[in-house]
Amino acid sequence: MAAPTPSPAANPAATPYVVGLRLDGRRAVVVGGGQVAQRRLPALIAAGADIHLVSPATTPAVQAMADAGEITWHARGYTPGDLDGAWYALVATDDPAVNAEVSAEAEERRVFCARSDDATAASAWTPATGRDGSVTVAVLSGDPRRSAALRNAVVEGLRDGSLGARHHRSRTPGVALVGGGPGDPDLITVRGRRLLAEADVVVADRLAPRELLAELPPHVEVVDAAKIPYGRAMAQEVINHTLLEHARAGRFVVRLKGGDPYVFGRGMEEVIACAEAGIPVTVVPGISSSISVPAAAGIPVTHRGVTHEFTVISGHVAPDDPRSLVDWEAAARMRGTLVLLMAVERIAAIADTLIAHGRAADTPVAVVQEGTTAAQRRVDATLATVAATVAAEDVRPPAVVVIGDVVSVFQGFEGFGSSESFESSESSEDPQGTGR
Ligand SMILES: C[S@@+](CC[C@H](N)C(=O)[O-])C[C@H]1O[C@@H](n2cnc3c(N)ncnc32)[C@H](O)[C@@H]1O
Repeated sequence: MAAPTPSPAANPAATPYVVGLRLDGRRAVVVGGGQVAQRRLPALIAAGADIHLVSPATTPAVQAMADAGEITWHARGYTPGDLDGAWYALVATDDPAVNAEVSAEAEERRVFCARSDDATAASAWTPATGRDGSVTVAVLSGDPRRSAALRNAVVEGLRDGSLGARHHRSRTPGVALVGGGPGDPDLITVRGRRLLAEADVVVADRLAPRELLAELPPHVEVVDAAKIPYGRAMAQEVINHTLLEHARAGRFVVRLKGGDPYVFGRGMEEVIACAEAGIPVTVVPGISSSISVPAAAGIPVTHRGVTHEFTVISGHVAPDDPRSLVDWEAAARMRGTLVLLMAVERIAAIADTLIAHGRAADTPVAVVQEGTTAAQRRVDATLATVAATVAAEDVRPPAVVVIGDVVSVFQGFEGFGSSESFESSESSEDPQGTGR
């Protein structure tokens, strides 16, 4: 091969020309199978590139990509000619001499090449990237941490609607049932938040995170489903009618629910109503209180060596009520965790029934009220004492009752807290996987 030509990038201050490479089916060569490759490969895979990795060893995660056929791994060191046929190269070995050799070959072959060790010697820089739906955000600032922070801010803004992306989107009229999570506004899914930011109308449940409603722009109509003044069945009919009416008027309606729409949420009834009326409908799962509220109070619903099962039961009907569909006898026989929703008012009858059918009276119980919110509190008891404890402590709905040995697995840990605990300084930004 001829001697490498000198880099034409003589002016390191020149502004990079930003472009989106369409690598689908095109050869991309990655030299070095360590942490840098591990972080960059998923995006190359997502781009559909024909990826050839040259490296004598890899991390286990990169090896898994090779095992899954997502990349072709050449388990050896770099040899000249490896960039033959490449459209794009990434060199990230821990040997600067090898990196220089590969980027010289790239220069010679006019293949754009990103280098992990020396940005000034690279012909391509990798921006900090993020996605929101069909939008890709790419930031190059010259400082990888700043790029990552800006990328995060832009993506967050797009997701919560504060960047005004809704004005550029035309969402098809219809209904999205969105699980809002247990109460902490941070615990809605990314997709749920994005759809919420695009809503014309939001029909919200009592347990849907209220802070999310406060973020909505003034023109968004909010219908408070909790205030519909009818009985349970009638109220559901009115809610269905409200969804259909707004969608038929050409609006995009978000039906915002607490937790997950299908966990005691009547979500499928609303889906069926929309489908039968020919209204496009989609469902976004949510984090159910049945798992997240115990977790927020430091209780895992399963724990190795303690239980291999957990059962979520609605306690909205008393055990002796003929309308109850719960087999309390079977529930009492289970060794695993029982998670009860809507059970606070009937906890005495439920605890008595479980004990009567054989569950030990000294089984640990925790009741977690308003989990994941600022008002969260937990009270502990046993199956024998839980009714008296709930009464004495004035525990009120919404609350989750957890019954089983998982309750006392680790008393010292108070739960996962809020994400703010970890948002202390910019320097915690991940610098490596983003900048040039
Ligand atoms: C009608 S169910 C809806 C459950 C919801 N779809 C879910 O997946 O979490 C309402 C019950 O969920 C429980 N719940 C919901 N959010 C809660 C929270 N933040 N703290 C405690 N319990 C909660 C309570 O038992 C409440 O009575």
